Amino acid sequence: MLKGKKFILGISGGIAAYKCAHLTRLLVKEGAEVQVLMTKMAKEFITPLTMATLSKRPILVEFYNPENGDWNSHVDTGLWADAMIVAPATANTMGKMANGIADNLLITTYLSAKCPVFVAPTMDLDMYTHPSTTRNMETLQSYGNILIEPGSGELASGLVGKGRMAEPEEIVEKLKAYFKKKASKKLAGKKVLVTAGPTHEKIDPVRFIGNYSSGKMGFAIAEELACRGAEVVLVTGPSSLSCNHPNIDRINVVSAADMYKACEKVFAGCEIAVMSAAVADYTPAVKADQKMKRKSETLTIELKSTVDIAKALGEKKKENQFLVGFALETNDAEQNALKKLNSKNLDLIVLNSLQDSGAGFNVDTNKITIINKQNNKKDFPLKSKVEVANDIVDEIESLME
Ligand code: C5P
Repeated sequence: MLKGKKFILGISGGIAAYKCAHLTRLLVKEGAEVQVLMTKMAKEFITPLTMATLSKRPILVEFYNPENGDWNSHVDTGLWADAMIVAPATANTMGKMANGIADNLLITTYLSAKCPVFVAPTMDLDMYTHPSTTRNMETLQSYGNILIEPGSGELASGLVGKGRMAEPEEIVEKLKAYFKKKASKKLAGKKVLVTAGPTHEKIDPVRFIGNYSSGKMGFAIAEELACRGAEVVLVTGPSSLSCNHPNIDRINVVSAADMYKACEKVFAGCEIAVMSAAVADYTPAVKADQKMKRKSETLTIELKSTVDIAKALGEKKKENQFLVGFALETNDAEQNALKKLNSKNLDLIVLNSLQDSGAGFNVDTNKITIINKQNNKKDFPLKSKVEVANDIVDEIESLME
């Protein structure tokens, strides 16, 4: 799968740089070409001679050769590669990548690269859990970079916890899986509707009924489908997330009624629809024109039912269309999910139970069970929402024939 592929391996200055010798060896053995870029600090952790020998190419560190002015073109290197791997990615390097601080060749090449970028962070536990690291990793993911999560265990400092760079074998597996997916053309050009996020149901000009959905799951699914070549329309309720994949056309909506209008239009031309939005089931029957004043001890707001978008699309669904729904349950999870699968005429339902810690709203992880029309059930362990999106899209792809 990696034969003939061209990789930039960007090494920044962390102790895990020693693992890059083995990573390079594995990639070269697979028949890949590897161009190593190192930061100045990385050279303190592993020698350029080791990396040049294993990669069979001179490594690059500086913008130019001071002896003769020969320019190391970050643009050419960035365009040459099929993928860039930044490993180990230190807190410093991720901060620069996230903010475009282009003061070394690794970063300028990163900014010029048009290929997918894999980032394998490594650092001490305290640095890893600092909010700035979390924010930078989220920013990199929002650029479409693929995070290869660090493992847990003993760290060089003696601390124990998350922060060990992924093992070279795992990085190679991730690269193989990525290129395998890319080679599969099943979803290429397919028109897909994805709903995401919460809805806000207006009470008066300053208040609404909403929910805790962040949109993370739906955005990750849209990204995954887009990466596999699908043309995605993402209809999202209010969400602070960004997506900039060229295959994603984003439509922002606010209420369940707006979302329904947008979905109805788009669904007719789609082959697949994934309904991952947390749509309000009820909306205020009357929306006040002026801000409501405090008047009495209690207040009753009359609510009326919204359209069940998934159900409405299920009723319109044609033979060549594939409809996926979600069920977020607090009790009798599987039974309720099965009921929804049938009543909404879905082809697949993704169940997440709020009883599982790490699953549900506003967290980065999810634990799902996928059930199809034949009542076949697959349980998945707790994973990041990006990996969960990958599993869901794999399942859709395998049932698409
Ligand atoms: O019935 P429940 O709301 O639990 O069903 C969840 C599924 O239905 C999700 O796929 C959700 O996106 C979809 N849904 C919808 N429109 C609604 C309510 C739920 O599309 N008004």
